Amino acid sequence: MRLLVQRSIARVVAEQQIPMAAIAVAVLAAGRGTRMRNALPKVLHPLAGAPLLAHVLRSVSRLAPARTVLVVAADGQAVSETARRILPGIAVVVQDPPLGTGDAVRRALPELPEAGTLLVVYGDTPLLRPETLQALVLSRERSGAAVAVLGIEPEDRSGYGRLRVDAEGGLLAIVEEREADATLLASAPCNAGVMALDLACARELLEQLPRHRDKGEYYLTDMVALACRLGRSCIWIRGATEEGLGVNSQAELAALEARFQARARASALDRGVVMPAPETVFFAFDTELEAGVRVEPYVVFGPGVRAEAGAVIRSFSHLEGAYLEAGAEVGPFARLRPGTRVGAGARIGNFVETKNARLGRGAKANHLTYLGDAEVGARANIGAGTITCNFDGFGKYETRIGEDAFIGSHTALVAPVTVGAGAIVGAGSTITVDVPAEAVAVARARERILEHRAPELRERFRRRKREGSRADGS
Ligand code: UD1
Ligand code: MG
Repeated sequence: MRLLVQRSIARVVAEQQIPMAAIAVAVLAAGRGTRMRNALPKVLHPLAGAPLLAHVLRSVSRLAPARTVLVVAADGQAVSETARRILPGIAVVVQDPPLGTGDAVRRALPELPEAGTLLVVYGDTPLLRPETLQALVLSRERSGAAVAVLGIEPEDRSGYGRLRVDAEGGLLAIVEEREADATLLASAPCNAGVMALDLACARELLEQLPRHRDKGEYYLTDMVALACRLGRSCIWIRGATEEGLGVNSQAELAALEARFQARARASALDRGVVMPAPETVFFAFDTELEAGVRVEPYVVFGPGVRAEAGAVIRSFSHLEGAYLEAGAEVGPFARLRPGTRVGAGARIGNFVETKNARLGRGAKANHLTYLGDAEVGARANIGAGTITCNFDGFGKYETRIGEDAFIGSHTALVAPVTVGAGAIVGAGSTITVDVPAEAVAVARARERILEHRAPELRERFRRRKREGSRADGS
């Protein structure tokens, strides 16, 4: 599962890049994240199936930065490993102890070029769009400002630094909430936590940041007031509120998940996905459904799902790492695990679990079945209750079922095993030996019929029950 997420993330991170002059990027992820109240580092908490950090790296990668530096805490090994799997070329610096966002960027300086634009993003702000980052970088470069800041105006402003702006829209300072006056608190735009900096100037200013007494930290946000004092201009641009939403607590993470889902549902509907109850369908960061796919209420997509036009996913199904060809039908109540491929017009019915299983065109597994490490040929029919016994406690083994084969209900296929094309397996069989093509295999005890014996058997049971109740005094 983890591998699947990593592979899916690496694929989406390699998406098409926006052409622009080379920039450097610093991603800050060394904060303690204490407000999450969880041992898992904040930026590794998942949003739509991928770590927060992956969303951020995905967005910044679209700008094709010449250099990307990640700042992690002393215990940030898991964070840096995740980042390296997503973006192998990323440089990692350790900030120990974490003394604030300003200090974090200072730590990144040795890994950054001397001049140009530095884009600073926080690892806990996952909904940033690459187009917005690009606009921020370009407006800094065009205006020659020392600092360009992304501002947002959310309904709930709590937790954000406030932008002190002048009448012309210039930016004078960023004031952290604790230090802001009533006017700023009530009406000033908020700092989304994204900055484009003139790197040569930032090198100078970072040395002059004051240390705030209450938290003992250096705030990156103080760069703005410092730059203004030295006669350099600073600007801000307005971004969509949701782009700047940061995660500081589990509640905020859940709220962001809701936003992400709303966005994913709307975009699926726009693209022509048929979804009568979109509010009950949950997407992963990389779900790809073609126009004309039908998704019934209450479906959950884990990472790595793609479906071609005409595929139908019925209610209460859970899919991850699965590819559905045109006209494939899944569910209700199906569970598709990584490595599943459902061929054109093939069908996976209720209470069927698949893992690393490929079903050919028109194959059917309609009820109560487990198909693991299996290859099922075109038009094969898998009867109710069939199980591929793919695991012996140590290794995993393959089951191959040929085209047009018929597997009777309640069959155990003990892998490794092959059932040839067109073969028929009798219901209730335990198949341990390969079945040749067009053969019939029956592997169960022969049935015995004892004529008229039922009344006598019933009498025996009755007697036993009577004696039993006398013995225990009831
Ligand atoms: C920060 C901003 C605030 C802004 C908000 C937007 C500062 C001082 N404040 O506040 O103006 O409105 O983000 O979400 O920048 N980090 C480090 N090293 C540190 C401290 C933090 O790398 O020493 C990283 C964290 O991992 C996190 C990011 O920087 O990814 C922001 O830190 P956080 O503590 O969440 O800052 P906020 O209080 O949200
Ligand atoms: Mg934050």
